[in-house]
Amino acid sequence: MASVSRLVRFAVLFAILGPLVSFISASPTHGKHPSPKYPFASPKCRRPLIRKDWRALSTSEKKSYIAAVQCLGNKKKARSISGIPGLKTRYDDFQGIHSVQTPNIHWVGHFMLWHRYYIATYEKTLREVCGYRGAQPYWNWTVDNNSGKDMSQWPIFNNQTGFGGNGVYVDGENPFGIPERSGGGCVPKGPFAWPKWSVNLGPGDSLAYNPRCLTRDFSRPMMKWATPALVNWVLDVNKYSDFAYRLENVPVFTVPNVHGAGHFGVGGALGALGDVYASPGDPIFYLHHTTMDRMLWTWQKRNLPARLYDVGGPIVPFDYTGPNITLSFKVGLGKLAPNVTLAQIMNLQGDILCYDYE
Ligand SMILES: *[C@@H]1O[C@H](CO)[C@@H](O)[C@H](O)[C@H]1NC(C)=O
Ligand SMILES: *[C@@H]1O[C@H](CO)[C@@H](O)[C@H](O)[C@H]1NC(C)=O
Ligand SMILES: *[C@@H]1O[C@H](CO)[C@@H](O)[C@H](O)[C@H]1NC(C)=O
Ligand SMILES: *[C@@H]1O[C@H](CO)[C@@H](O)[C@H](O)[C@H]1NC(C)=O
Ligand SMILES: *[C@@H]1O[C@H](CO)[C@@H](O)[C@H](O)[C@H]1NC(C)=O
Repeated sequence: MASVSRLVRFAVLFAILGPLVSFISASPTHGKHPSPKYPFASPKCRRPLIRKDWRALSTSEKKSYIAAVQCLGNKKKARSISGIPGLKTRYDDFQGIHSVQTPNIHWVGHFMLWHRYYIATYEKTLREVCGYRGAQPYWNWTVDNNSGKDMSQWPIFNNQTGFGGNGVYVDGENPFGIPERSGGGCVPKGPFAWPKWSVNLGPGDSLAYNPRCLTRDFSRPMMKWATPALVNWVLDVNKYSDFAYRLENVPVFTVPNVHGAGHFGVGGALGALGDVYASPGDPIFYLHHTTMDRMLWTWQKRNLPARLYDVGGPIVPFDYTGPNITLSFKVGLGKLAPNVTLAQIMNLQGDILCYDYE
């Protein structure tokens, strides 16, 4: 308890000092750097990476992002994390760490913040290991759903300047009754078609080396969950714990939630993105989750003095009456990054993270 109240006091102090610090760092002596975009920015974050919607990237920006993902997945050796025998590439490191932590990072209060740190580490790795110069893009699905176009026509699924489209149709089990599933087999074209791309871990929680093609299984009706009305409903709350709850909602296919829309609209019943453990085998995972991080930041920005410090929600999945996460709760990514407290990653332009959204 003592450490929690110390943190709260620290938070209050920080709220008072924040504007002062940014005033100093925005002073003319630092004139060649853009000034921080809001009063809580840390002086350590001078040049935030600006994350953009996939559709807003130029063709060459799209190609350089795809090339960097392919580099992680093809050329670079895994860092070998103990307990994950199937790792071959640096890309697998991320899929593997998601898989081993899956039982502790979904339907908990830190769901969004764990994924925030995970994506920022992925973005950093693309830049440092594969020479990528841009920021992690996101995929704003509401715009695509609104377009009324067939999914195969959406920019993110383009065969040349996107991630390729649906898998070929195969018959298969559909235990959750995903409506109008339309693929399920290998993605036949584009930069992530076999054998250019190989998903090495999974299915499910298997951590053995099991190279196979990337599968997708589009469900247009699941994508219809991705509406501005549902996004606004998630944002329209005062407490972090309510935001977190509304974002994931209950894990059934009769209650819409934006998290499920991206996963099951693309992954359906048989595609990689519909697999709770192995879903980061589909590179679109990172663009989908970045959109939800953008939602969290949009929510935080509506009242930063309070929402840089508000967390809550269960530590144990679905345990809504049990203990809640606090700012001193730690999240980690095994060997991929140092452990951090949630307090350290609340701020997109803090001492650890340094990015913003367009
Ligand atoms: C998606 O784009 C729409 C229209 O530009 C915008 O209003 C909305 O905030 C974006 N949604 C997300 C989740 O970023
Ligand atoms: C999403 O797309 C479907 C199918 O085109 C459409 O019926 C629905 O109204 C869309 N939702 C929104 C909010 O745009
Ligand atoms: C992408 O390639 C697949 C397989 O050849 C094809 O079915 C699909 O129509 C192509 N997508 C577009 C938008 O051309
Ligand atoms: C955790 O937070 C919820 C929602 O605010 C609350 O109902 C619950 O009592 C809290 N749990 C504990 C153990 O305090
Ligand atoms: C992070 O914390 C976990 C659990 O407390 C610990 O096992 C692990 O060694 C820590 N990792 C790093 C990189 O410090």
